[in-house]
This record gives sequence, C-alpha cells and structure tokens, in this order.
Amino acid sequence: MTDQFVVRAPGRVNIIGDHTDYTGGLVLPMAIDRWTVIEGSYHRGPIELTSSDEPDPLVLSLPVTDPASVEPRWGRYVAGIAAEIGAATRPIHGRISTDIPIGAGLSSSAALEIAAALALGFEGDVVALAELARRAEHRASGVPCGIMDQLCIAAGVADHALLIDCNALTVHPVPLPDGVSIVVQFIAHRTLMGSEYGDRVDECAAAERSIGPLRLATTNDLAGIADPTVRRRARHVINENQRVRDFSEALHRGDLVRAGALMVESHNSLRDDFATSTPVMDRAVEQMCATPGIYGARMTGGGFGGCIVAMTEPGAIARGWVVNAVDGASIEHSGSSEGIG
Ligand code: GLA
Repeated sequence: MTDQFVVRAPGRVNIIGDHTDYTGGLVLPMAIDRWTVIEGSYHRGPIELTSSDEPDPLVLSLPVTDPASVEPRWGRYVAGIAAEIGAATRPIHGRISTDIPIGAGLSSSAALEIAAALALGFEGDVVALAELARRAEHRASGVPCGIMDQLCIAAGVADHALLIDCNALTVHPVPLPDGVSIVVQFIAHRTLMGSEYGDRVDECAAAERSIGPLRLATTNDLAGIADPTVRRRARHVINENQRVRDFSEALHRGDLVRAGALMVESHNSLRDDFATSTPVMDRAVEQMCATPGIYGARMTGGGFGGCIVAMTEPGAIARGWVVNAVDGASIEHSGSSEGIG
C-alpha cells in the first residue's frame, strides 16, 4: 500500500421496497453511475478534507467522540465514520468531489460515509462496512435510517439491481432486462433530518409491539393493531415486502407490464398508507405514467421530496436522466483497484 489513494462510492436509486429496511424487510435498489470520490494521501496529524461542494474545509482531530457537534456540518458524516472505526482510523489529507445531487434522495450522505470509511482505513466485508456506515449516519445526523443505502453502495453489481433482505443481510443481484431504462427525475431538495422519517420508524416499532415483526406478518394480522394510523403504516410495510418479491419474479419472467404496475402500487401505498409522498411527487408520477413507453413510476427513497424513479422503454422520456447500475464502492492504491468483500 502506498500513501496515495482514490476512493469511489456510487449513489443509489431504489426501484421498489421503501420504508421496509428498518423493520428487516425487502428492498430492491441499484447503485448508480454517479459517484462521490475522495482523492488523498495518508499523513500524520488531523483529518483534513476539502469538498468541491462546500465552502468550508474539515479539520478533524482524532479521536472523535461527538460527531454530531462537528463543524462544518458536512464533516459530521466523516466524523461519524472516524468515531466508529475508532483507534484504527488512518488520518488523511484530501479532496472530496461528487456528482451525486445532494439532498435529492439518491444517498449522497451514504456515499460519503462509505467513501470515508474506505479512505480512513476500514477493513472488512461489505456487510460490516454497511453496518458501520449506518451507525455513523445515526451518530452524525440522528436520522434512524435502515441499512439499504449503505449496503447497496457497498455491494452494487453492474447491470443488476440488488434484492436485499435487510434482516438476513443477504444481497442477491437481479439482472436488469435488456431493453429497459431506469430513469430518475428530480423533484425537490429535502433532508430527512427533522422530517417525519423518525415518526415512521416509531410507528413501525409500535406496530411490531402489537403484532410482532412486520417482515413475518400478513395482512390478516393487521386487525391486531388498534391505532388506525399505525395499522395503515403496517399495511404499507407488509404489502411492500410482497411487492418486492413479486417485482423480482416479474423481472425474471420479463413481465415488465406487471413490474411497472407494482411500482405504481408501491407509490400509491407510500402516498396513502405511509404518507411519505408529496402532491408534487404524486403529479410527477401520474404524468410519467401517462407517457407512452413508461412501464411504471414511483417516489423513491425516504420521500418528503427527493426524486421519482421510472422504468421505461429506452428513449421514452425526455425529462430526467437515465441511470445505469454499477459496481459498489472501491479503493485504489497506486493503480491497483480493490473491491471489497
Ligand atoms: C432513506 C433511508 C433508508 C430507507 C429509505 C426508505 O433512504 O436512509 O434506510 O429507509 O429512506 O426506504
């Protein structure tokens, strides 16, 4: 290993399976061809990083004990990683750049966490990397996120979506059929910090206190939940897990019409039962679905803004951008690229 390195971590878009990961459910995201890159070298002294998107540099002395108090704020994600790696953290001097839109629901923060973990000397497999980065996100931002974003970014496979079981932490690559485009359309900037995301996590926990793990529940169990709001949240999660299974099977069969219909059902469930969509996102999904050559569309990620995702015939959409599925994060030392895991 030399003193110089380049780390690349992609963003992600979730094709189907939202708000299921933090109850150990199923998700089907893909890593996308937008990256956060850290170029740097190892040195003695504090971590020193600049960012192409931020005016203020990060100068971070080790050890880090309270990532949430670090300034500038973007540095909290790096600080969370350093706090989680602990004494084995390797101080670096470097520069971050990214073409993942920030605050758009495409996991710019998880990409920064995973990139920082590799740069700061994390060693281990993709699951351990994702778990560490998820803990760092909790400490840095207070958002009680699940593991989908970090695991997708760590474990991405080119030309494949990933069927992830967020309880077993298994990742099954699902080939994306030829003749299909995945298109992302930006709707609005948002942050999950201070949003209702945490309320949804709490509501799912309340549902599980009544009927046990949602990942094992069926809609027959819903009658055991007294609170109508909590019951609706649970209904979304139970149905969404089944939609992820059905979507994967539809892709295997090449039944794109069925897969697209499941995306729309997922959107409607996030709108009506889970209340994480917005009227602007609903209209954008409706407009997409009324366009010839679109199989289906839905909000993607945490919601409350961000992006919508569509599955289309190639060339069907002028608005938005086509994303391609790519391999997960990697680190390169003096010309030799290492994947992880
Ligand atoms: C955010 C979180 C994920 C997941 C999605 C919703 O992206 O970081 O863990 O919960 O929202 O599916």
